[in-house]
Amino acid sequence: MRILIIGGTGLISAGIVKHLLLRGADITLFNRGQRSTKPGAASLPGEIRQLVGDRNDFDVFERRFAAERFDVVIDMIGFTPQQAMSSVRAFRGRCEQFIFCSTVCVYGSKISSHAIIDEQFPRNPVSEYGRNKKVCEDLLLDADARGDFRTTIIRPSSTYGEGGRLIDNLEFDPVAWDRICKGLPVLCAGDGLGLWNSTHRDDVGKLFAHAALNPVTYGEAYNATTERIFTWRDYYREAAAALGTTAQVVLMPASWIIDHDPARFGLLREITQFHGPYTSVKARHDVPHFSCDIDFRTGAQRTLNAIRAANTWRSSDNDPLYQAMIDKAQSIGVRPIEA
Ligand SMILES: NC(=O)c1ccc[n+]([C@@H]2O[C@H](COP(=O)([O-])OP(=O)(O)OC[C@H]3O[C@@H](n4cnc5c(N)ncnc54)[C@H](OP(=O)(O)O)[C@@H]3O)[C@@H](O)[C@H]2O)c1
Repeated sequence: MRILIIGGTGLISAGIVKHLLLRGADITLFNRGQRSTKPGAASLPGEIRQLVGDRNDFDVFERRFAAERFDVVIDMIGFTPQQAMSSVRAFRGRCEQFIFCSTVCVYGSKISSHAIIDEQFPRNPVSEYGRNKKVCEDLLLDADARGDFRTTIIRPSSTYGEGGRLIDNLEFDPVAWDRICKGLPVLCAGDGLGLWNSTHRDDVGKLFAHAALNPVTYGEAYNATTERIFTWRDYYREAAAALGTTAQVVLMPASWIIDHDPARFGLLREITQFHGPYTSVKARHDVPHFSCDIDFRTGAQRTLNAIRAANTWRSSDNDPLYQAMIDKAQSIGVRPIEA
């Protein structure tokens, strides 16, 4: 099985590569070569072929693959319709299956009419990221319908793991973990009972690796998540336990937090203020090897340890805004609760 991964040295692709190697795949990675020198970057087995280039350099990218044929192309780094159209030009007639890494942000779920979001949920994205992914999905499914190649769409939700960050409710690279280690309270939006699921990248990687050349997945879209749905209070409690302590949480309205710095709290504005409970029953049915085996506390511990080992731990010192927000909340009588 010859496989090309566009953007193959990232967080989720590390999980995909691990499971493709177990399947004995012949793997080629295409990326700009900016990761291998970063602290904490994993070294790749020698049998993996690595190509360096920028997928946004469309002419060069498309010519680069004109003489190659792969069984499967996995696109981990497609965000715009222009990139999706370039992929169709590059791989039309040159691969059997094209697996596109999308996102659950295509659902939007601003108003959740279903408690649990499966692939039948209407796609109504609330962010530019989600809207662009939706257009990419449609362009690639059109290519499938025309017979350019067979397309499979995979939609991860929040995915974490060694080599990446562990989000909190507010930020992609939170100060919360350092504050929790120092016994300081942290912020969470609403009543902390928003629904969420977070999946370790090794589990997500399993779905990509075993969807490859699985004809049942052709023309289909799949969520790629654990079935464990928890609240943000659970999330903070289990992440704190991974750090060997407890979390004191100050609950404030999402809009109040966002208004203090809309750019900094963009994760909350666009994603985490909404419920994020997904089911991947369809993936488990069609790709029987897909199972999620890494519990959140274990995965969080591995991720946070890796961040420390890479010396990329975010300190909460010199963050007057966050402390001022906590002080302001407490001055109006909001007391921290133990998550
Ligand atoms: N992580 C999550 O929570 C999450 C949730 C839902 C969906 N997703 C989706 O998952 C996908 C991958 O996310 P990730 O977090 O695993 O990615 P990531 O860790 O940021 O990795 C990105 C990969 O793409 C390469 N790359 C970046 N720009 C490139 C370019 N212009 N040309 C060629 N290669 C390029 C990077 O290597 P170089 O820098 O060396 O080029 C790296 O190999 C994305 O499509 C994202 O939308 C992620």
